[in-house]
Amino acid sequence: MKKFALFITLLISISISAQPLTPNAKKQGKALDLPEDLRSLLRQEMGEVRKGMELLMLYTVSAQWSEIETVGTQIKNSYIMKKSLTAEQMKQLHQALPKGFKKIDHKFHGYAGSLAEAARTKDMELVRYYLSRMQESCTACHSRFAHDRFPGFSQKKMTK
Ligand code: HEC
Repeated sequence: MKKFALFITLLISISISAQPLTPNAKKQGKALDLPEDLRSLLRQEMGEVRKGMELLMLYTVSAQWSEIETVGTQIKNSYIMKKSLTAEQMKQLHQALPKGFKKIDHKFHGYAGSLAEAARTKDMELVRYYLSRMQESCTACHSRFAHDRFPGFSQKKMTK
C-alpha cells in the first residue's frame, strides 16, 4: 500500500502537462517559430520524453538498473533531428531552432546517455545526479522556449 502511495505521489509531482493553457499569458522572450508539421513532431517527441522521465523516476526509486539503462538510451537517441524528416524539413528545423535551444537539447541528450552509463555500473548516486540534470534541462528549455505552452514560467520571478 505504501508503495502505491509513493507511486501516485510521484506521478502527481511529475505530471507537468496538467498546467492549464492560458492563451493571454504575458509573453517573455521569443517563442519558437516552427511550421506546424515540425511543431507537431516536437510535441510528439516531448510526449515520449515525458513518459520516459516518469518511468526513469520509478525505475530509479526501485533500482531497476537495466530498465533505467534502456530508457536512458532511448531518450539519448530520441532527437527530433533524427526523425524521418525530408531534406526541406531538416533545413527548416536547423534554421528555426535557435542556438540556445540546440545547446540545451544537446546537453539534455548527453545527460540521458550518461544516466544510462551510470545505470550500467549500478551507481545510484550518479544515476540520481544525471536524472536531476535532465530535469533541469527540461525546465531550462521550457522557461526560454516554451512559455506559451507553459505560461507558469511567465509568472515566476525571474532571476536572470
Ligand atoms: C531543448 C528544449 C527542450 C527540452 C530539453 C525539453 N523540452 Fe519539453 N518542450 C519544448 C518546447 C519548445 C515545447 C513547446 C512545444 C509547443 O507546443 O510549441 C515543449 C513542450 C513539452 C510538453 C508539452 C507537449 C504537448 O503535447 O503540448 C511536454 C509534456 C514536455 N515538453 C516535456 C518535457 C520533459 C519532461 C523534458 C525533460 C525531460 C523536456 N520536455 C525537455 C522544449 C524542450
